[in-house]
Amino acid sequence: MKLTIDRIPYGDLNFDEYFDKYVKSQTPVIVEGVYAFDSEKITPEYVKQKFYNEEKKELGWFDSELVDNDIITIPQFVKDILNKDEFSVREFPMRVFMQPYGHVTLPHYDGNSLHGLNLQVLGEKRWILTSPNTPLPCTPFMFAGLVGKHFEYDPNKLDVYDFKTGPGDLLFIPRYYFHEVHSLGKINLNNNWVFTPKTPDESTSLGRREVEIVKLRKSWPFVNKAFFPDKFSSYGGQGQELIETYSKNVSYFRMVVRFLRELAGYPKLIILAKQIKSRANDFSKNNFNV
Ligand SMILES: [Fe+2]
Repeated sequence: MKLTIDRIPYGDLNFDEYFDKYVKSQTPVIVEGVYAFDSEKITPEYVKQKFYNEEKKELGWFDSELVDNDIITIPQFVKDILNKDEFSVREFPMRVFMQPYGHVTLPHYDGNSLHGLNLQVLGEKRWILTSPNTPLPCTPFMFAGLVGKHFEYDPNKLDVYDFKTGPGDLLFIPRYYFHEVHSLGKINLNNNWVFTPKTPDESTSLGRREVEIVKLRKSWPFVNKAFFPDKFSSYGGQGQELIETYSKNVSYFRMVVRFLRELAGYPKLIILAKQIKSRANDFSKNNFNV
């Protein structure tokens, strides 16, 4: 089904309502008119000088501590959300993205069960969000969609949002929502805050996949080495505590079934590998290339 994203003007924002209706119930939404930045001062040179880290180029973002800086301030309601007890916030929860026109982020959902609050600072982006109720197939042991170059989102089969964000739009992307993102402006700059709920959500197949994978990574450490580049010991910013909570309802049998299900994705991955790799290379090459 084609879904329409709700938009709330910042001036009309009632925090409790916003929190319950969207963040707590894990529904995407845009708050419009969040000008928490000085667009006059933001230049690609400034952003590179402030955040650039070559190692992060491939991933696509610059990490930053949760502090206001001279051009980007953290909106109060974002701080209020990140301060809630029910969320775990990592040491560097702010991510700055900068991409040129034509840059495409392949469909994926964020690891570490991350919720994201993404502020469009400059430029324009087209977002295609797929609900975890109708997820895309997953690349084995990873968070990227296992789909080809010419994949079409069929609204008869998938629950999808398809919309654009411009400067001042702050988008909430709940955990496990696949997102494919196209940069439409000359310079596209986004600031993203990420946080992980301390409790798992097994109401969707991707939520169940995640807890099974957490159990797998915890029980068979070779899986981390073989398949996952991120540091498992700091899962969701809290590490062991969250690893225990997320994996505690997963039986050993269920974990083994997950392992086998991931392996079963390899034939399809082999068929699509070339296409996925070339798209991933374009993604890396163009990050920050403005
Ligand atoms: Fe993402």
